[in-house]
Amino acid sequence: MTHETPQRPAPATRGTGRLVVMVSGTGSNLAALLAAHDDPAYGARVVAVVADRGNIRALEIAREAGIPTAVVSIKDFDDRASWDAAVAETVAVFSPDLIVLAGFMKLFGDTFLGRFGGRIVNTHPALLPSFPGAHGVRDALAYGVKVTGCTVMVVDEGVDTGPILAQATVAVEPDDDEATLHERIKAVEQPLLVEWVGRVARDGLRVEGRHAIVGRS
Ligand code: GAR
Repeated sequence: MTHETPQRPAPATRGTGRLVVMVSGTGSNLAALLAAHDDPAYGARVVAVVADRGNIRALEIAREAGIPTAVVSIKDFDDRASWDAAVAETVAVFSPDLIVLAGFMKLFGDTFLGRFGGRIVNTHPALLPSFPGAHGVRDALAYGVKVTGCTVMVVDEGVDTGPILAQATVAVEPDDDEATLHERIKAVEQPLLVEWVGRVARDGLRVEGRHAIVGRS
């Protein structure tokens, strides 16, 4: 396991939700969360960024913002269960109230979900339950849909099957390719993720069947 930087939790601002953001890529959703978290009214603060690989832009964004980072790479483990347990241990060091998957491209196993289930929020670049998985934008384009979008949901044991918190739509243009469509999806995805992570952090989250309910009542 390659651990980077301090494994000491960053100090939490009193009364704010501690966010651990998990990443695998370019980090535009992470950057949007970091642009919001300095406002005390937001109610949540990114205390660590955890990745499943090094050398990604998202880790640079975290370091530039002075956020502690850790990398737990699956290739350093004999099997998936050991990796899952190590990621859970690493995330637990930062005492998160909420874990945000912002382009994190690995599935969790029983250990991680047993420890953090019900307080993991993910974002996906398609209108679930259509086009789950690693290639939501590509699959929607290939299918020929005219409208797609993004989904913010609570993580469960399935692949993008958890209860939905929020969705936003994006029209597919005739000349779109995967990159142009994904850019326009990200433009709506980032504010949607920021908004709903803040709501969950401020007001709490509970799941009743298929329904993710934000609020204290
Ligand atoms: C986002 O569009 C996110 O929805 C997607 O990866 C992108 C990460 O972008 N996640 C998935 O496809 C998960 N199934 P970013 O690294 O620029 O935030």
